[in-house]
Amino acid sequence: MIHPIVKYTDPVLDTPAKPVEQFDEELQKLVAEMFESMYAAQGVGLAAPQIGISRRLAVIDVTNGKNPEAKIVCANPEIIHIEGEQREEEGCLSLPGFRGHVLRPQYVTIRAQDASGKEFEMRGEGLLARAFCHEIDHLNGLLFISHLGLLKRDLIKRKIRKLKKAGDW
Ligand code: NI
Repeated sequence: MIHPIVKYTDPVLDTPAKPVEQFDEELQKLVAEMFESMYAAQGVGLAAPQIGISRRLAVIDVTNGKNPEAKIVCANPEIIHIEGEQREEEGCLSLPGFRGHVLRPQYVTIRAQDASGKEFEMRGEGLLARAFCHEIDHLNGLLFISHLGLLKRDLIKRKIRKLKKAGDW
């Protein structure tokens, strides 16, 4: 089942998500549906709040389905180490059509649990490091626009208000 992606300004996106506690069949189903929804939306990462489920769960595939081994499930992820810097343009499925330059670490190591509850650590570089930060931000109720300068952020917010008024958001 492909879930519709929740867009900014839905309050679920501003709410810190609750930990995943049950690694049962229902969770496996949710993970499969999150990958399906992410690929359908042509994203490289999706956090559960983006389909309206306030849980600390995210899926990532920086190859967007080209390499089945690139699928990453992160339940209850935490950043345990960062190194270096990168400043690249970033977007978000919950803010379609908007992008902005965000400063992120070049290397990010996370500790998380997989879909079966097994703990793992993983080090990402470049786009993967960025995806780790972006998705963990979602689980903490933050969107990438919170990292932009005030002017750029207000401009995006104003444009979205206009789109909403016109019924296009
Ligand atoms: Ni996002």
